[in-house]
Amino acid sequence: MSQPNRGPGGIDTRTPNIARIYDYLLGGKDNFAADRAAAQRLMAAVPDMAGIVRDNRAFIGRVVRYLAGEAGIRQFLDLGGGLPAQLNVHEMAQRTAPGARVVYVDNDPVVWSHGQALLASGDQVAMVCADLRKPYDVLGHPEVLRLIDLAQPVAVICACTLHFVPDQDEPYRVIAEYRDRLVPGSYLAITHGTREEDPDGMVDAVISVYRQASAQLHVRSLPDIQRFFDGFDLLDPGVVWMAEWRPDPGIPPAGRIRSLRGGVARRPLACRSALLARASNHPRYGRRAARDRRAGPGPGRAGQPARGDAAGRPGFSGYHLRRGPGWLGYGR
Ligand SMILES: C[S@@+](CC[C@H](N)C(=O)[O-])C[C@H]1O[C@@H](n2cnc3c(N)ncnc32)[C@H](O)[C@@H]1O
Repeated sequence: MSQPNRGPGGIDTRTPNIARIYDYLLGGKDNFAADRAAAQRLMAAVPDMAGIVRDNRAFIGRVVRYLAGEAGIRQFLDLGGGLPAQLNVHEMAQRTAPGARVVYVDNDPVVWSHGQALLASGDQVAMVCADLRKPYDVLGHPEVLRLIDLAQPVAVICACTLHFVPDQDEPYRVIAEYRDRLVPGSYLAITHGTREEDPDGMVDAVISVYRQASAQLHVRSLPDIQRFFDGFDLLDPGVVWMAEWRPDPGIPPAGRIRSLRGGVARRPLACRSALLARASNHPRYGRRAARDRRAGPGPGRAGQPARGDAAGRPGFSGYHLRRGPGWLGYGR
């Protein structure tokens, strides 16, 4: 089948691409005419759009500095990491904690191919081409398994990404699946578009630009953004305008303050007995599941692999068992 929008290398250069539009807004060079035209339309609708995306990067910088410093986090999973920018998460984290390990996940092949250059930064960094809506695939990816130890706290970053996941793709279930795989002391950081402040109908103008792009924009209300943090304890000051999240004194925001919402939360310590009970009943990790695995395929389980799915991919328990205390590590 012919694909008229695809140029050399099979890249669709004619459809504005959300990663490359963002790159252009940040002053990057990894973009095509269609991306630049879309970015120009965004800037016509929201004159301080470039400032807002710089503020988003500044938010990520403050969060990573806090996590790698005060919070002692040494592993980062950046979901929808985007094209390499001026100061990337691994550079920010390793400034504070030189041994920090970072895996970038993006489903855009162009981001992935450019991101390979990051590998030159050393074996503590990887770029994975995967869809964040499939936590099973992301967390089972060999590069994630190589760099991220799920028995230790992890910081999951979803900056300017979840608003590209529509409700029908169940973003709350997706985030809950990551959450349930994180040990206590892990963190979730999010920035997200909202319609709370929209005096001139700018949000609709932005949505209509993205309607022509590689992914559509789905802004959410403050309560709906807060909902992503269910099961976490929000750090002060909560889900706020991102420029107001622990701002650096003397550094004013580059764009309007009331633009994107941002927040950071920590997976709380849980009661060991509750977790053991939950592990015991869990369909994949619990004692009943272990007994079924020992028994092999039988009535009601005929044809199902002991672990993993029908495609032969390992189940979560597969790599958790390899990774030491794993699920029961929650109770430590
Ligand atoms: C606006 S950029 C944000 C980049 C970076 N997180 C930041 O805030 O600076 C959004 C990124 O999310 C990626 N993305 C969108 N949907 C995704 C999905 N389902 N799985 C993985 N990446 C996704 C896009 O390809 C793009 O690179």
